[in-house]
Amino acid sequence: MGRLSRDKRDAYYRLAKEEGYRARAAYKLVQLDGTLDLLREARVVVDLCAAPGGWSQVVTKEASSLVVCVAVDLKEMASLGPKVTMIEGDVTAESTKLAIFEATGGQMADLVLCDGAPDVYGLHDMDDYMQTRLAIVAFDLAKVLLRHGGSFATKIYRGDGGSSSFFKDILGPNFQKVLCAKPRCSRAASVEAFAVGIGFFKEGSKNVNNTDRMIPFVACGSTSDLDADSSYPLGLFADYVLRDPVQLPINPPHLWADQRKRSLLPKEEILVQPLERRASRLAVPRDFKPDASVPLQRDNSGLPAPATDAVSLAAWLTL
Ligand SMILES: C[S@@+](CC[C@H](N)C(=O)[O-])C[C@H]1O[C@@H](n2cnc3c(N)ncnc32)[C@H](O)[C@@H]1O
Repeated sequence: MGRLSRDKRDAYYRLAKEEGYRARAAYKLVQLDGTLDLLREARVVVDLCAAPGGWSQVVTKEASSLVVCVAVDLKEMASLGPKVTMIEGDVTAESTKLAIFEATGGQMADLVLCDGAPDVYGLHDMDDYMQTRLAIVAFDLAKVLLRHGGSFATKIYRGDGGSSSFFKDILGPNFQKVLCAKPRCSRAASVEAFAVGIGFFKEGSKNVNNTDRMIPFVACGSTSDLDADSSYPLGLFADYVLRDPVQLPINPPHLWADQRKRSLLPKEEILVQPLERRASRLAVPRDFKPDASVPLQRDNSGLPAPATDAVSLAAWLTL
């Protein structure tokens, strides 16, 4: 899919580039916040599964009393200034929890967000289940990070794979108010929505009333916001100019796949050889010829060792 075709089909994608957001996902938080007022008084925010950083950008813009936003993702993120601390890590790992604590300096969070999306299988029940698992992990983190009275929002899929019990059994007893929110920029056909808990009860003060209540469904954003399911003319915002994304992905997997495709490595070596991720960012001149006098580094199994600099990367690719 070319950049132009995406520009044509998705006005929020275009708007994000116009307004300097790294991801169209930023508008999900803009609209959740516009309706639910999550950010105004937040001083300490934890943004789980944050790459490339669109939500953290919204946090820095809308949370006027912000002290720190801790942004965590499996993927490396480019800096967003002194108030955003980036952590490259898996939110399901214990070490990540400790790193978040360290980054907040021991301060309790006012708001924990999670826009995490595991890789989808395409099997709806399985995807729903995986999404709910991630939401549960996010809430487990929120339980230890949130202050009494704090708020939590996490992406869920509205389906049978566990999201309804997530609302009633997991969020229900722990918050004063629980709701299911759907921002206008999230396509109507998509099962995506956000489970939101407001007014966290720290251990010991459970809200038993919430477990048997109907969960309100709240559409977020204003009626004047763009409709994610409509097509708009390209010149909607100004004279149309095709813009580059605000922040190119760092070390995207397709770079490695591309290098792998172009290399003449035997298939079995390609499959077993994990390339050092940072190496994929290094520029290698097209006419590069490896120096045959430099012995190739090999790992314990005798395979070429992962390249860690441009020269050994190029030597590795020309094997
Ligand atoms: C939809 S993107 C988030 C977009 C982000 N809210 C923004 O505005 O830029 C989903 C992210 O979830 C991350 N993710 C999925 N599983 C994760 C995990 N176990 N730990 C950390 N990040 C994870 C992915 O790496 C991906 O960057």
